[in-house]
Amino acid sequence: MDLSSNYTLPLPENPIIVGFGGVGVDILAAVPSFPKPDSKIRTTHLKVQGGGNTGNALTSASRLGLKPRIISKVANDTQGRAVLEELKADGVDTSYFVVSEEGNSPFTYIIVDSQMNTRTCIHTAGYPSMVPEDLRQINLLSALNGARVVYFDGRMHESALVIAEEALRQKISILIDAERPREGLNDLLTFADYVVCSEKFPQAWTEASSIPRALVSIMLRLPGLKFVISTLGKDGCIMLEKCVDKGHQLEETDVDSSFESLTQRRGDSIAMPTCIASPLTRFGADGIGSISGRLYFGTAEKIPSSELIDTTGAGDAFIGAVLYAICAKLPPEKMLPFASYVAAANCRALGARSGLPYRTDPLLASFTQ
Ligand SMILES: Nc1ncnc2c1ncn2[C@@H]1O[C@H](COP(=O)(O)OP(=O)(O)OP(=O)(O)O)[C@@H](O)[C@H]1O
Ligand SMILES: *[C@@H]1O[C@H](CO)[C@@H](O)[C@H](O)[C@H]1NC(C)=O
Repeated sequence: MDLSSNYTLPLPENPIIVGFGGVGVDILAAVPSFPKPDSKIRTTHLKVQGGGNTGNALTSASRLGLKPRIISKVANDTQGRAVLEELKADGVDTSYFVVSEEGNSPFTYIIVDSQMNTRTCIHTAGYPSMVPEDLRQINLLSALNGARVVYFDGRMHESALVIAEEALRQKISILIDAERPREGLNDLLTFADYVVCSEKFPQAWTEASSIPRALVSIMLRLPGLKFVISTLGKDGCIMLEKCVDKGHQLEETDVDSSFESLTQRRGDSIAMPTCIASPLTRFGADGIGSISGRLYFGTAEKIPSSELIDTTGAGDAFIGAVLYAICAKLPPEKMLPFASYVAAANCRALGARSGLPYRTDPLLASFTQ
């Protein structure tokens, strides 16, 4: 009998996912404080590692036991080959990559300042960029075959739309990372079953006066959406889940005060991430509308400052765990603490991937039980 299996994260029935978006090489320079212009300083640590939202999120998912396939583009240069090798070593299927003989692969300098815990990214886009014609080089039908969910980081929107249309035809769920408003993102979002956004996105996209109101607005604008999550950095995350069948007979409750009362139920002494859920409610936002569902507040893990190394890729780590939760059919009350734990583990090491946990980490399984 394998006793250790109790502590290993269970494999979902269908662990196949597909991701489309950015990959690249990150050069991470950790410095004691952010440099002044024209100064000369030294790093405390230096790391060269694969990066890019999609590369990172799929690495997170793969370490949790999913079987990710990645669609992206690199050039056949030193960086591009390193990106492919690193993803392969992490169990990500790279056979659907487009590799161009000419050009350069995407590249990011990241200054990680240990004083203020900031991570400043200087990105050089890859060339030539991905165009829908590139997708002819790969077998899209075979890439999507049997997948439970397709993830988009919002980049390379023209090609993303082609893939999203095919995923819709095949009734595969779609998760979109909405980091900031981008060209073509609005069209892509109409395909979304699930949206995970960064803290600034909801209000930037909807012009609502608060994040909870913005989430109601996003739900109303995207009728196919089942849930929307906004991460809030060290403050955790907020999620609005739609429940279509029930709730018309419910009395309307203001979404801001609902969220406020959830945050007040947080226990400040607990270090591990938790989730506080509302009952089924009709959430109203004046001047926007109302939606029936549940609101969740997920707290972040409390990381002692001596252990907080680098928040680069925290959002990607979180999304990798959300992809696992969708495949494993975890309810939101388990999904949010699980994803927050994975994201927090990633904050304890330099770079977007070094701290990502493996499915044998016994604490991971405890979040799903
Ligand atoms: N300082 C922190 N302490 C604990 N957890 C954190 C911290 N920063 C981020 N996290 C966790 O990571 C999740 C995602 O973080 P954040 O909201 O910063 O994502 P993001 O802005 O999309 O990040 P990135 O663009 O770097 O990937 C949060 O919901 C939280 O669970
Ligand atoms: C990349 O270039 C090398 C030679 O530098 C070649 O051997 C290899 O086949 C090329 N790979 C691809 C995918 O084109």
